[in-house]
Formats: sequence, C-alpha cells, structure tokens
Amino acid sequence: KNIALIFGGYSTEYYASCVSAANILKNFDEDMFNIIKIGITLKGEWFLTEAKSHEIEDGKKWVECNNKACVVDLTRNSGEIIIFNESSFDKIKIDCVFLITHGYRGEDGSIQGVLEVANIPYVGCGVLASASGMDKQITKVFVDSTNVKRPKSIDLLKEDYKYGKKLNIEFSYPIFVKPANGGSSVGITKVENEATLHEAIMTAFDFDNKIIIEEGVQGRELSIAIVGNDELEFGEICEIITPEKKPFSYETKYINPIAQMKIPADIDEITLKNIKEMAKTIYKSIGCEIWARIDLFLDNNNEVYFNEINTIPAFTSHSIVPLSFQKKGIESTMLINKLIDLAYE
Ligand code: DAL
Ligand code: MG
Repeated sequence: KNIALIFGGYSTEYYASCVSAANILKNFDEDMFNIIKIGITLKGEWFLTEAKSHEIEDGKKWVECNNKACVVDLTRNSGEIIIFNESSFDKIKIDCVFLITHGYRGEDGSIQGVLEVANIPYVGCGVLASASGMDKQITKVFVDSTNVKRPKSIDLLKEDYKYGKKLNIEFSYPIFVKPANGGSSVGITKVENEATLHEAIMTAFDFDNKIIIEEGVQGRELSIAIVGNDELEFGEICEIITPEKKPFSYETKYINPIAQMKIPADIDEITLKNIKEMAKTIYKSIGCEIWARIDLFLDNNNEVYFNEINTIPAFTSHSIVPLSFQKKGIESTMLINKLIDLAYE
C-alpha cells in the first residue's frame, strides 16, 4: 500500500509538524507500507520529497532535497497525486494519507476536504470535526451541548474591540488570552492582572480576528490521547508539570523540550473514570474519528474541566500521544499501523 505522509503547511505550526513527521518516519513500518513523503512549504507549495527524516526535522533542509511539485488529482475521483517533471507528469495512486499537518489549513478541515473530494482515505478526523475542533469558540458550543464543564470565558472579535467594546470579565485573574484558531500555544498569553490585558489581546489578534478570554482553572493540567472510531482506546493520562508556573508553550514543546510530563499521571480511579468519560463525550459530540488528544484541567476538588481538543495531535518523540501509548506497551510503529487501519474502517 502507498501511504502518503503529508507534513508542514502554511501554518504557525509548520515546524511542529516537521518534527512530528520526522518522528513518524523513524517509526514507520517499511515492511508493511510504501511511504510517499509530501511536504508543504511555509508558502504553501506542495512537493513530493525524497528527504530523510533528519532533513525534515529542522523544517529547512528538506525544501532543498530534489523535490518535485505535486498536486492531488481532483479531476477523476481516482485517489491519485500528480507529480510534475520537467516536461511531463507522472501519477501515483495513494491508498491512504497520514495527515500530520498541524494548524491552519492542515487541521481545520481544509485539507481534509481536498482528500474527501479526491476519494483518498486519511488518518484523522473528518471535515466537520476538524473544523469544529480547530476553532476554540465553536468547540465551546459543542462542549456546552454536553454536561462537560469548561473554564468560564468570553469571545471577542477584533472589529468589536477596535470600536471600543467593553469587556465584561466576570472571573478572576490569572486569565488566558488565546486566538480562537491556533495551536501549540502560539499567540496565547497568561495574564496576571488588568495592566497587561490589552497587550495580550493585541498579541492574540495578530493570529486571528476572533479570540477567547478564559478563566485560569487553579489546579492541574492533564491530557488524554484517544484512538478509535466506534470503540475508543485511551493512552495513559499525562500530567503536564509546569514548575516555573509557565504554561506549556511552543518553546517548551518543540524548541527546547524539557521533561515536564508525568505519564501516567498520579490520579485516583474515580477521577480517571471521569476524565475518560469526559473525553469520550467530547470526542463523540464533535464527531471525531481515528484519533485526537484532549487537554483538560483538574481543579483542587478533582473536578474535570475540558480545555481543548487537538484533532492532529503532535507526534514528536517528546509528545503526549506516542508516549502515553508507549506506557501501555503500544510502541509508535504499532500505533501508526493502528491509525492507518482505522482510516479504512
Ligand atoms: N497543536 C499541537 C500539534 C498539539 O497540541 O499537539
Ligand atoms: Mg491545540
């Protein structure tokens, strides 16, 4: 089978995607599948690449690696990609795509739509779940249709703020200011008092025209990996330990990954059950398929609060999803095979 790994993209999470892709390649089962690597540059150009894992990891070298421009063939429902040579073109039949394109256009339903039109199965949630999970304001609408708790929040549009909309924040500091569409903590600020709120709002507006201002839940930050379509399997629960009281950030996730995760998290049976129930409720309400990772808070009374969902979770060697399945004895190669199997269900 030809499996196309699509990585990179015109997204603030381009580098995160390259690190995830490099790790997937290292763990890819070459006896089972033939891998076809398709990178999307920061400018949004698509290339079939022969680059090796280490050339993809830094996000830079692969771009110079004897690449050929390619596109998904949308004309014939054929499941093919077209590769451009100097004066001719080739076609390759793709049996399944492994999408590891985090963020804008990669995780938000756009590329999923392209693959639907081309009739190519893919690892990841469908168009609606991807779009709903990417936008934190829309996700809240789904959460609020269930009995799951979430931090109090308000939404704010750039246009309204510009014209002096008064903020009615009815919760106490610290609070978090986040772009509605984003990932890997890019554009997020933890705000300790009103004096720095405006600056945080303007930072978030650099990334999106819609932002969320959210109550900071006092307690613990956890994350749970979910795999499956009808039957769900969970990874061991991960606790994110932030000793310096800094939120998990792009820097500590990808650039300078420091040990700050405890897997499995130290929690009691009842809380564990509550977390899994919350994860299942949200996964199903958004209509997720194949895999996702849900981040959550536990307050000081062990009450579970949904934080956010990632429909293309990071898959670096330091990432929660691969590590939390490894702790259950499921190595990354097995996990990748399972995800590909689920794409065919
Ligand atoms: N958005 C990144 C990739 C994650 O949360 O895993
Ligand atoms: Mg995210």
